[in-house]
Amino acid sequence: MKILVLHGPNLNMLGTREPEIYGSLTLDDINAALSQLAFDLGIEIECFQTNSEGRLVDRIQSAAGLFDGILINPAAYTHTSVAIRDAIAAAALPAVEVHLSNIHSREKFRTKSYIAPMAIGQICGFGADSYLLGLRAIFNHIKK
Ligand code: DQA
Repeated sequence: MKILVLHGPNLNMLGTREPEIYGSLTLDDINAALSQLAFDLGIEIECFQTNSEGRLVDRIQSAAGLFDGILINPAAYTHTSVAIRDAIAAAALPAVEVHLSNIHSREKFRTKSYIAPMAIGQICGFGADSYLLGLRAIFNHIKK
């Protein structure tokens, strides 16, 4: 099983970016924890971060046939991107949406996700654990 892990804009700044909201772990720390979990589960992951909406769309499009599922934190594009939503629909791969923060307890504009209706489910509010729970969730979903 191979899972594509996608991180959206500004997540490269984790560690120093609003640590009171996003915690003190860096993106490398999160990817390392995901790699350890992937090893324990006996699966492969590939992690990719970009600040560009188009590059996220490109990666989702090219995932079909190469990956079994997508774990994605679309970051700010969660709340704006019809293009990423359509790419997930077109790829026809199971996807799980994750967020470090609880997007439902913050500003009103963050409560709307264009991605969630295309996902198996959404996990948010658990910091880096959102990603680890999300990887377990997509693993269990695909295994069934
Ligand atoms: C985020 C939540 C988004 O609203 C925000 O734009 C981010 C990070 C999160 O992981 O909590 O960049 O996706």
